Amino acid sequence: MENGEVFGKKGLKNMYSKVDHIPLIKEIARGLKRSKNNKRYLELGIAKAKCFNVIARYFNESTAVDISEKALGYIDVDCFKRCCKTSEFFNDNKEKFDLIFVDADHHYCSVERDFLDSLNCLSEDGVIIMHDTYAPNEFYADHCEDAWKIQDYLINRKDLQFINLPVFYGLTIVKRHNKKEYWKK
Ligand SMILES: C[S@@+](CC[C@H](N)C(=O)[O-])C[C@H]1O[C@@H](n2cnc3c(N)ncnc32)[C@H](O)[C@@H]1O
Repeated sequence: MENGEVFGKKGLKNMYSKVDHIPLIKEIARGLKRSKNNKRYLELGIAKAKCFNVIARYFNESTAVDISEKALGYIDVDCFKRCCKTSEFFNDNKEKFDLIFVDADHHYCSVERDFLDSLNCLSEDGVIIMHDTYAPNEFYADHCEDAWKIQDYLINRKDLQFINLPVFYGLTIVKRHNKKEYWKK
């Protein structure tokens, strides 16, 4: 059997869906709420707001950023909507966020820039999640552009903790390697 037959469009559909990542992010959002780290949520890249509409409900304030006006039209929760490039959003932004979901332009250079901008406005115990960072198989290696290269960047950042889960096209979860004063005994 050819790879195309195994991993053809239908095959990939059976292995992954566009909403599979949401329950995992939802559980992290629920945990942040329980820990009272749920002031602000930021999602970069909204598409049909399937993720945003679920996750935003766990936060006091949420911001959606997308270059597509149409994408922002799918939002059905109270929030701030910014129709612009992610880089333009970060130029003006002065807020800190407790959870940031990076899922806009999947070319590595954009993913890295979005990640570094996100890190600059992450709250002390905040979490960044990036999507499509683990190409699902050889046949679909370029399906998510080269977003997966962010792993090679992160591995050299000793000030960060991260895990790149090989599920749902890849979900990379990152936080700062903070050591609290009261942990030093
Ligand atoms: C993969 S979809 C987002 C999916 C959504 N996060 C979800 O989980 O359902 C990518 C979105 O990013 C937007 N986008 C692409 N490049 C962008 C950029 N440079 N700035 C802002 N949005 C961008 C696209 O318009 C598209 O809606």
